[in-house]
Amino acid sequence: MGMKSTQVQVLAVLLLACAVAAQESAGSEAERRRLLANGLGNTPPMGWNSWNHFHCIINETVIRETADALVSTGLSKLGYHYVNIDDCWAELNRDAEGNLVPRKSTFPSGMKALADYVHSKGLKLGIYSDAGYLTCSKTMPGSLGYEQKDADAFAAWGIDYLKYDNCNNGGSRPTVRYPVMTRALMNAGRPIFFSLCEWGDLHPALWGFRIGNSWRTTNDINDSWESMVSRADENEVYADYARPGGWNDPDMLEVGNGGMTKGEYIVHFSLWAISKAPLLIGCDVRNITGETMEILSNEEVIAINQDPLGVQAKKVRMEGNQEIWAGPLSGYRTAVLLLNRGEEDSEPITANWDDLGIPPDTLVEARDVWKHETMKQYLKNELTTTVGPHACKLFILTPVMPAQ
Ligand SMILES: *[C@@H]1O[C@H](CO)[C@@H](O)[C@H](O)[C@H]1NC(C)=O
Ligand SMILES: *[C@@H]1O[C@H](CO)[C@@H](O)[C@H](O)[C@H]1NC(C)=O
Ligand SMILES: *[C@@H]1O[C@H](CO)[C@@H](O)[C@H](O)[C@H]1NC(C)=O
Repeated sequence: MGMKSTQVQVLAVLLLACAVAAQESAGSEAERRRLLANGLGNTPPMGWNSWNHFHCIINETVIRETADALVSTGLSKLGYHYVNIDDCWAELNRDAEGNLVPRKSTFPSGMKALADYVHSKGLKLGIYSDAGYLTCSKTMPGSLGYEQKDADAFAAWGIDYLKYDNCNNGGSRPTVRYPVMTRALMNAGRPIFFSLCEWGDLHPALWGFRIGNSWRTTNDINDSWESMVSRADENEVYADYARPGGWNDPDMLEVGNGGMTKGEYIVHFSLWAISKAPLLIGCDVRNITGETMEILSNEEVIAINQDPLGVQAKKVRMEGNQEIWAGPLSGYRTAVLLLNRGEEDSEPITANWDDLGIPPDTLVEARDVWKHETMKQYLKNELTTTVGPHACKLFILTPVMPAQ
C-alpha cells in the first residue's frame, strides 16, 4: 500500500472532520427529533425475508415452516427474530370497504392467524406494502391513499415490521409519500419497525431517520459477487448517517442462495455485519446447508453487527484490489476487515493503526472472528495478513495498554 504520509494525514484530518460533523449533527436537538419514536431498531434488525429466494411464490405454509426452521436451527436464539413476508401476499383488489385482502389461494387463514403462529414461536411477523398504487409485482395494491386503513389493519393483525417499497408511485417525491405512512403507523398504536425501501433514489440517509428505522441506499441486490460488493460500496458512502434507531440498508442477504462461493458469502456477511446493515436472511431456511449455517450463525460476527455503539464501518483505505474497512466498537475496540477484491491471487494486506484511528504504538490483541482464534503475539502499529481472491479476514482489535 503505497499511500504517502501526507495523503494519510489528509485522510486522517478528513476522517476526524467527518466524525466531528456526525457527532454535531447527531447531537443537536433538531436533528435528533424523530416522528417515528417507536423505540425499535436500537441495533440493526435480524431475521428472514421471503423475496430473495421465493420471489412471488409464497404462501402461509412456507412462512410457518420458515418460522419453525428459524427455531429448530437455533438461528432465532442468535437474534434472527423477524419473519418477513415480501410482495405478493394480497389479492389484486381491495374489498368493498377498501381493505387489503390476504390472497385466498395462498394465505387462506389470514394474517392474524399467521401472526399468532409466528408469535407463539417467540418470533415477529413482518409484512410488505408500497408507497404507490400497486406493488412492484403489480399483483396487489400499494398503500398510497390508504395509509391509515392499512396501518390499522397491520396493527390489528399483530404485524411487527413493515417493508415499504417505492413502485408505481405516480411520480411524486418519496419525502411526500413515506411520512404519511409513518404517521399512520404511529396513529395505529402498535410499534412496527418501518423499513423504507426507497432504493436510494433521493438520498434517504439524509431524511430517513426522521421517519423510519432503516432505509435502502441501493437498488435490489442479486446473488452475484458484482452486485453484492457494489451494494456495499454504495451503502458505505452514507456511513455517517447510520445510528441506533435508524440504519442504512444495502438490501437483504443472498447467503445460501447458491450464486457465490463460500468465501464470497463470508465477504458478504462480514461487510453487512460491519456496515451495521439489517441481517435479513434470504435463503430457504427450511433446507439450509451446514456451510450456510456456519456463516449465518457466527456469533462473533453477529456481535459486531449488534454492537451497542452502532457505528457503521467505513472504507478507510483502498489500493488496487485491496481494501481496509474499519469502525469502532464498544469497549475501545475496533472491527477491521481486510478485503481482497481481486479474482486471482492471494495478497498480503496491511492495516495500519494510523488508518484505523488507533493511537501509534498502542499494543493490540487481535482476534480473527472467522477462525475464532486470538493471535498469540500482541501487535503494534500494524496487522498484516494474507487474504485470498474474493475473500476477506475480519478481526476485532482490543488495546491491551494505553499508548505511552
Ligand atoms: C407454498 O410455497 C412453497 C415455496 O414456494 C412451495 O414449495 C409450495 O408448493 C407451496 N404450497 C402450496 C400449497 O402452494
Ligand atoms: C446482477 O447484478 C449485476 C451487477 O449489478 C449485473 O451485472 C447482473 O446482470 C445482474 N444479474 C442478474 C441475473 O440480474
Ligand atoms: C435443498 O437444497 C439442495 C441443495 O442444497 C437442493 O438440491 C434441493 O433441491 C433443495 N430442496 C428443496 C426442497 O428446495
